Amino acid sequence: MTNEQYRSGSIVIVDDNPDNLRVLSNVLEQAGFVVRPAISGEMALQSIQLNPPDLILLDIRMPGMDGYETCRHLKADPLTRDIPVIFISSLQETGDKVAAFAAGGVDYVTKPFQFEEVLARVRAHMELHHIKRHLDDMVASRTQALRDTMASLAASHQQYRAILEQVIDAIGLTVEYRDPYTAGHQRRVAELAQAIAREMGMQENALEGIRLGALVHDIGKVRLPTEILNRPGRLSELEFEMIKTHSEIGSDIVKEVSFPWPVAQMIAQHHERIDGSGYPQGLKGDDILPEARIIAVADVVEAMVSHRPYRAALGVDQALAEIRNGRGRLYDPEVVRVCLILFEQRGFQFSSQVF
Ligand SMILES: [Fe+2]
Repeated sequence: MTNEQYRSGSIVIVDDNPDNLRVLSNVLEQAGFVVRPAISGEMALQSIQLNPPDLILLDIRMPGMDGYETCRHLKADPLTRDIPVIFISSLQETGDKVAAFAAGGVDYVTKPFQFEEVLARVRAHMELHHIKRHLDDMVASRTQALRDTMASLAASHQQYRAILEQVIDAIGLTVEYRDPYTAGHQRRVAELAQAIAREMGMQENALEGIRLGALVHDIGKVRLPTEILNRPGRLSELEFEMIKTHSEIGSDIVKEVSFPWPVAQMIAQHHERIDGSGYPQGLKGDDILPEARIIAVADVVEAMVSHRPYRAALGVDQALAEIRNGRGRLYDPEVVRVCLILFEQRGFQFSSQVF
């Protein structure tokens, strides 16, 4: 940018001396600027607020509102605070200059005028003002562009999360198609497990992990013969041993998927019990993943509340009696405590139908 560009622009000159006003106006108009004179601080404020100029030349000593006060008014108003103010005064004392800068002036010229000096300063400040405005606009538009990008990133992130959940849910359904007696089981376990985790104060991201893990916690059953899954009546010991393989099979199925949560472990450990009596590894207490301890309780409660091929639904009371009874022995005591609160105090109900 060169000064050539700043031979135009609008300037308000404020001076109580009409001769000074006229002389200065002539010089600046000849230099290409659009000039509006004002004979007092009060008039200047009105004129400036009505139509803000690019620059203000402001006399200090004036009857009524002096230059400092006029400047303070301008700086207090968001509409005019960024307009550069150059003070003019016949006084040359250092105190005046200090007060002029303190009032918000950007520069100071003294009377009698050296017109070349006045023009040079006016052009310099006009240029600075334009550059600053240009920068402000640029920052504002870049900031907006950045905000837009962030918003669309967040939206697509959310969309991917939703798709991920839908895919997981669809995979979970493939197990349930083969095992119609447990249709909806994983979804309901997911619902309860997530509610327990939320009540326990787990972070939103962890809740999502638990939900996904629970939605496929029985995925390993796809490898089991449908005759075993669908058969009413008690299972033989051998058949039960087969059923027990579903935790590890399920964990193997998803272990290559790089979930941001330990989904494979949740699946592997959902039948582990606090006292080590669970399967497949017989893990105890804190060796079991917190998410798996939550899914385990949700799994037991949902299974008892629902109908099974070998028995009718046992009902909520019996399900809660089971976890209360196994609290600290089979099931994580804190998870049980929270699960009981959900049913007994918060009125938790499965939103999808229990068969
Ligand atoms: Fe299971």
